[in-house]
Amino acid sequence: MSERNGGINTRAVSAGELKIKEFGNVVTPIFQNATFIYPNYESGAINDPSTGKPYIYSRWGNPTVNSLEQKYAAIEGSEFGISFSSGMSAISCLAMSKLKRGMKLLSASELYGQTYSYFLNKLMEIGIDVTFMDTSTLNEGSFKASDYDMIYAESITNPTDMVTDIQLLGSLCRDTGTELAIDATFASPVNQNPLDLGADYVVHSGTKYLSGHSDAICGFLGTNDDPGAIYDMRKNLGPVLDPTQAYIISRGMKTIGLRVGRQNENAMKISKFLEENGKVESVFYPGLESNPYHKIARRNLKGYGGMLSFEIKGGVDQARKFLGKLRYITPAPSLGGVESLVTLPIDTSHSSMSKVQREKIGIKDGLVRFSCGIEDAEDLIEDMKSALDFL
Ligand SMILES: Cc1ncc(COP(=O)(O)O)c(C=O)c1O
Repeated sequence: MSERNGGINTRAVSAGELKIKEFGNVVTPIFQNATFIYPNYESGAINDPSTGKPYIYSRWGNPTVNSLEQKYAAIEGSEFGISFSSGMSAISCLAMSKLKRGMKLLSASELYGQTYSYFLNKLMEIGIDVTFMDTSTLNEGSFKASDYDMIYAESITNPTDMVTDIQLLGSLCRDTGTELAIDATFASPVNQNPLDLGADYVVHSGTKYLSGHSDAICGFLGTNDDPGAIYDMRKNLGPVLDPTQAYIISRGMKTIGLRVGRQNENAMKISKFLEENGKVESVFYPGLESNPYHKIARRNLKGYGGMLSFEIKGGVDQARKFLGKLRYITPAPSLGGVESLVTLPIDTSHSSMSKVQREKIGIKDGLVRFSCGIEDAEDLIEDMKSALDFL
């Protein structure tokens, strides 16, 4: 059960913390235990929430991991929070526990490359009927939600920052029994809580903003619905967090409000700088008033996020030169950490898609994706300016 008392920074610091009065510990301890005494006849034994019985085995549940899950749920505002060993395992456990042979999934076409290839190649293979639809068409809402068992989209799409109208999709799904699942990795729970907008499930690559330091791979799922089938799938497939890793992620999660607040500010300043730079062809950031998704973003987001992308005049060759000239900004995949990272999606996040598929969803070869860190905006802008001046 999540605690929703206090603001997000208070919840990030205090929710879920496992304080044992007898020790007086301030920070949750690491329960580095594969197994626990069982049967546990202790009258005050604490239950594993996934089973409702005392802890027995860490693939089912572990106190340190569970403390992290409660912290995540408190930040997300969800009744239940479930952790996974990666964002992809959160997505695949959700799909496999909710979708059966013959069921119909309507998915946005603009997806993280691995999610797209999982839906296209693996879900189709096991008999799930997947239809892809452009985010802009989904946002028009002119389809019959009742034709589908689940609708899936990224709230801010990777890498071109289109914004999904979750309010609209939520209202279309509400009376039809169609479940709405949203990947809110780019937004983070600081900028958006999809369950409040009408989604049934929210998933995250926790590797990004939730842990925030580019040093852990993890995933999270939040829901207010019965999570039994998802716990069961996680138990069967086994993609759980190790307790020590959960501790590291929890430490990072405590500062999410501060980090993302700063990343929102940096992304806005950098987008404005790029929009005015003569070497730049186009900028994709929903916080810009010129962005076609700005109005939808204002209704669905509390902040516009730390991710932006842009095209440099001269295409992929100039983009590669630009990456090689940066000083503080590191060329690397992934995103959401305290350090600014830059990448070409054709080489990393969307390399599993064909050129034709990429172009269909607006990813040109020269598109540059930028993940703003928490550095000083002036230094980041100076770094980008001198790299662009070199071209
Ligand atoms: C939007 C989005 N969803 C899901 C994932 C998968 O997460 P993970 O790499 O933690 O498995 C990623 C990874 O980059 C992502 O960007």
